[in-house]
Amino acid sequence: MQLLRWLSWTGYRLDTGASSHRGAGQSVLADPQIGLSSQPKNFASWLQDPQTQLSVSTAPIPKCGSDDLILKNHVVAVNPVDWKIQSTGGVGFDLEYPLILGEDVAGEVLQVGSNLKDRFQVGDRVMAHTMGLGLGSAYGGFQLYPILTAATTSKIPDGMSFRDAAVLPLSISTAAAGLFLNASLGLAYPPTGHKARETQLPLDGPTLLVWGCSSSVGSSVIQLARAAGYQVITTASPSNHKYCETLGASHVLDYHDADVADHLIALLKGKKIVGAYDAIGSDVTVRQTASILHALGGGKIASVGLAPDVFSDVIVSSISSGAIVTDEPEVADEIWGKYVPWALESGELIPSPKALVVGKGLEDVQKGLDRQKEGVSARKVEVLLA
Ligand SMILES: NC(=O)c1ccc[n+]([C@@H]2O[C@H](COP(=O)([O-])OP(=O)(O)OC[C@H]3O[C@@H](n4cnc5c(N)ncnc54)[C@H](OP(=O)(O)O)[C@@H]3O)[C@@H](O)[C@H]2O)c1
Repeated sequence: MQLLRWLSWTGYRLDTGASSHRGAGQSVLADPQIGLSSQPKNFASWLQDPQTQLSVSTAPIPKCGSDDLILKNHVVAVNPVDWKIQSTGGVGFDLEYPLILGEDVAGEVLQVGSNLKDRFQVGDRVMAHTMGLGLGSAYGGFQLYPILTAATTSKIPDGMSFRDAAVLPLSISTAAAGLFLNASLGLAYPPTGHKARETQLPLDGPTLLVWGCSSSVGSSVIQLARAAGYQVITTASPSNHKYCETLGASHVLDYHDADVADHLIALLKGKKIVGAYDAIGSDVTVRQTASILHALGGGKIASVGLAPDVFSDVIVSSISSGAIVTDEPEVADEIWGKYVPWALESGELIPSPKALVVGKGLEDVQKGLDRQKEGVSARKVEVLLA
């Protein structure tokens, strides 16, 4: 299974032996003075055992492999997977405890692997999808000095804040996995060099149905799909309709409406439908999305979560964000290597949704998981680390 293959991808495994808690009330932040010449003291917000609260203690000093970067972490964002692993014990994940969660980071490059000297320099401002769930805790985001995988790291423009940048990384990988992997929807990549998201699209052009555009993942799906030349028809609460239109949706419908599926079928009838992306991935949303495609003659659905058997003419695939590196690395090259740096610099890719900063220091990361679990609406929960 793809997920298991991804999770069993071997890499750095953490030297456990975390110790030395800091005093209560003392914020654990990245040292502003640290550079290559000084040896950083690393701290992390650890999940010591299944179904326990995160706690802050020391972490090993990262060792930079030839294809890695070391980050001085300024901002982490929180994702549903973090509290899901914490509260379920990580069923379905191949985890070694204690572990460091966290997939979204932004900060400054402290060290550059020997194979990457032509792409990155010490001091570069970057954002990254950190690969701790596949590669082990040295790559987990909830620490002061995580190791980054260059394949899912991008420089960010000088004028872009770390807070803005950190909302994007995991959602970009997840959107790219569903949209561009041949094993999923296999759509065309967005071009670089001109702002395709601003060009008028023909009404009879290829069209994608996206369920849940105001989620973090949905926000990147819409932007990437629209930039790649697809019309996007989507669902969100009425308070987020304008938001989804700004990101590139041509029609936004309220998913609370009991007749939403019928309205979507009427809107999509006669269009060239290239598939659907379910950015919520619950049993209900996958079945709703499937019923729409089925009524229109069938097709493929990329789901961020469940992939139940539905209709014989609808194929549902479950997305693994890491597959853009492990299974079809050309997707990471095209999106993270080419499109994202250009699109951030040109302003085509807008950091979305807006950050909701809930704390400062590693000890506030648990607060971040709690806040994400309560539920957000077009917001990305973040904690500042520097
Ligand atoms: N497979 C992977 O690799 C992968 C990677 C990342 C995330 N995920 C999963 O993807 C899901 C979304 O993650 P996220 O971070 O994007 O979530 P999120 O930002 O926390 O999602 C919140 C948003 O979901 C929307 N929403 C909730 N129920 C909805 C429904 N029935 N229909 C349409 N929209 C609905 C809300 O919209 P309104 O406020 O407009 O109502 C809200 O804006 C999670 O289950 C996560 O675990 C999977």
